[in-house]
Amino acid sequence: MEKLFRTKSHTQILLDAENGEYHLSRALSAFDLILLGIGCVIGAGIFVLTGTAAANYAGPAIVISFIISGLACAFAGLCYAEFASMIPMAGSAYTYAYVSIGELFAWIIGWDLVLEYLLGASTVAVGWSAYVTSFLKDLGVVLPAQLCNAPFDYSPASGLVATGAFVNLPAVLVVAGIAALLMLGIKQSARFNALIVLVKVSVIMLFIAFGSHFVNAANWHPFVPANTGEFGHFGLSGILRGAAVVFFAYIGFDAVSTAAQEAKNPQRDMPIGILVSLTICAILYIAVALVMTGILPYTKLGVASPIAAAIDAAGPTLFWLRPLVKFGAIMGLSSVILVLILGQSRILFSMSSDWLLPKVFAKTGKKSRSPYVATLVTGFVALLMAGIFPIGFLGEMVSIGSLLAFTMVCASVLVLRKTKPEIKRLFRTPWVPLVPILGIVFSVGQMLALPRDTWIRLVVWMAIGIVIYFAYGRHSSRVHHSTLQNENKS
Ligand code: ALA
Repeated sequence: MEKLFRTKSHTQILLDAENGEYHLSRALSAFDLILLGIGCVIGAGIFVLTGTAAANYAGPAIVISFIISGLACAFAGLCYAEFASMIPMAGSAYTYAYVSIGELFAWIIGWDLVLEYLLGASTVAVGWSAYVTSFLKDLGVVLPAQLCNAPFDYSPASGLVATGAFVNLPAVLVVAGIAALLMLGIKQSARFNALIVLVKVSVIMLFIAFGSHFVNAANWHPFVPANTGEFGHFGLSGILRGAAVVFFAYIGFDAVSTAAQEAKNPQRDMPIGILVSLTICAILYIAVALVMTGILPYTKLGVASPIAAAIDAAGPTLFWLRPLVKFGAIMGLSSVILVLILGQSRILFSMSSDWLLPKVFAKTGKKSRSPYVATLVTGFVALLMAGIFPIGFLGEMVSIGSLLAFTMVCASVLVLRKTKPEIKRLFRTPWVPLVPILGIVFSVGQMLALPRDTWIRLVVWMAIGIVIYFAYGRHSSRVHHSTLQNENKS
């Protein structure tokens, strides 16, 4: 039993980080890390989901939903920052759990993160495909529907049903291209990400700056539309449901922590990367939500491209911004895919360097120093998922997976403060235990708001993971082998 909760020592982690056999190229500055965070956060959430959340659940009070969800992420973000300042390794929540609550939990979290990163990349690739198809249509190029839609559709009532389409080809191609770029190396990937972040943040700022002139304050009344009598449809419960939906828009700030092994000065720069990117994105989101609901009555925002709809409503003076927004969204979604695949490959790399997965995943390129096998496998599975499944089927799994990881990281901060108070923490989560407890409460609360079948899929996924651990990782674990070696010596 004890073996299931064996932990990896912090000293071992520092040794591995400095001169272990598994190392990556330390090329990223604090600024690069902030850009990686923004690159991963701003995407389908703001460009697609905000409108439906306002139209169906919260009305103009979607602004409050963004504040609540942002706060919930801040509690978790502060906990991530404490760990990231202690552990300069690529495994993120997986490694944090390994040093604090033990191997079994670490494995569970590593397995769970596949939902956030790998499924996240597939989900956003499906959203990317929809934006590209519509952008090309605006230009008069119509792609055959059978080649840009999922062969399956999904609804909780009927499950998966065939649509007649073959494959979502644009989604497959974008994942393949991005995985290839990541295999070239972290420097090239960070440069590409920086360029995209520049484009998408500029587009969003242009929308805020020019759109604000067209705000009609009457659209904000009532700011909190009365509840319709059904839980989650406007009123206070609508704001809460809106917060659970827009949570997706914040996912990704934690992905910064998977680049810890590639940061030049991880202990100092990781907390900066995580917290600054989260703050910038929260401010932008709140401003976009205010302007969007100010230009267009919330009842008209339930469309696939709500920012473009708001621009249309502002009238011809703003039409020049429309193609820019679509272009910004397409670019923006690509960097989300990039950082999510990066995150997934680094987690595979870490689990494999701890021998919980076959060692081949920890192979790195001689010149690029990128974990190319992990990237290749991640890219391949992500493109299969993106080509076959619809967005709704994938999206909720991403949220539940991320929330479970947040819960574990907050709990791990509480545990490690008690069990290893002596470890030097360059960044300390303030107001412990309040902040981690609030992080847990908000995360679990949002998980509970998700549908039952999402929970069932989570349980099935976890059960598969646990079987694999008992069949493989438990015996092959590096910590297990070094314990055996030490026992034999003494
Ligand atoms: N936060 C990311 C997005 O909204 C996952 O696309």
